[in-house]
Amino acid sequence: MVKFNNDDFFIVTGANSGIGKSIALKISELGGTVIAVGRNIENLNKLKEDSNYGKNIHIEVKDLVEDVESIDKWFTELKNRFGKFRGMVLSAGLLDIIPINALSLKKAKSLFDINYFVNLYMCKYFSDNRNNVGEGASIVVLSSIASIKGDVGIINYSASKGAINSMVKSMAVEFSKKKIRVNSVLPGFVLTEMIDKWKNVYTDEYIESMNTKYPLGIGKPEYIADTVCFLLSDSAKWITGQNISVDGGASIA
Ligand SMILES: NC(=O)c1ccc[n+]([C@@H]2O[C@H](COP(=O)([O-])OP(=O)(O)OC[C@H]3O[C@@H](n4cnc5c(N)ncnc54)[C@H](OP(=O)(O)O)[C@@H]3O)[C@@H](O)[C@H]2O)c1
Repeated sequence: MVKFNNDDFFIVTGANSGIGKSIALKISELGGTVIAVGRNIENLNKLKEDSNYGKNIHIEVKDLVEDVESIDKWFTELKNRFGKFRGMVLSAGLLDIIPINALSLKKAKSLFDINYFVNLYMCKYFSDNRNNVGEGASIVVLSSIASIKGDVGIINYSASKGAINSMVKSMAVEFSKKKIRVNSVLPGFVLTEMIDKWKNVYTDEYIESMNTKYPLGIGKPEYIADTVCFLLSDSAKWITGQNISVDGGASIA
């Protein structure tokens, strides 16, 4: 059984919606303290209201791509406010469904900013000895089964998630000296606000067909949150550098 203490501080990005919100709720329910990062103050307030453990959730409004290189100043400020971090979950990300002939370099790079470079820099500053607890520290980055299974219109998105899978492997080796574990989780199709934004692609018929294609049916955010909390905990103390699919069997069917 996974349990955290209220002096276990976890940063969660993308905490105002979908999978990140579910992870923030779960960590707070398990006793940990969450620094919930998002751009939308109303949704972050709603997260606190929706939690039975709202006192364990601290809201932090931040657009992560605004100035990626200055993330270090913000990170230090957070550490000064809360103390050293036990863990970090990087769930903020964007999906862009676009055929390659319509993809510009500017658009391709801007997706990598939020899906890859922000995560790289967040890990860089988390790994500073002044910012994490050392032994027991754990990072989980949200990738996608799109990184291992092809589909139409998501070439750049898939590549941005593939970059995460590779990143965590070398990072796990480098960070092992600091006793920090780092893994990625690859969700399959999970109904969230991200899917709602692409209603023209993910129609009701499409969702129905996915539900029958997935051996265990399509997912819910809490299925991902359960795995992420396990990976953050000491129950996963011998797991690092792994890309873990949580996808109802979609990637093997
Ligand atoms: N849902 C799925 O089927 C699925 C499958 C595989 C992988 N994933 C991955 O899982 C993660 C969470 O996805 P989700 O379905 O929960 O999506 P979501 O509900 O759209 O949540 C994405 C979050 O990222 C935040 N975000 C985006 N750009 C940001 C920025 N510049 N600064 C700060 N925050 C920013 C969003 O904040 P705002 O609300 O302010 O925009 C939102 O909270 C993503 O990395 C996604 O790629 C999802």
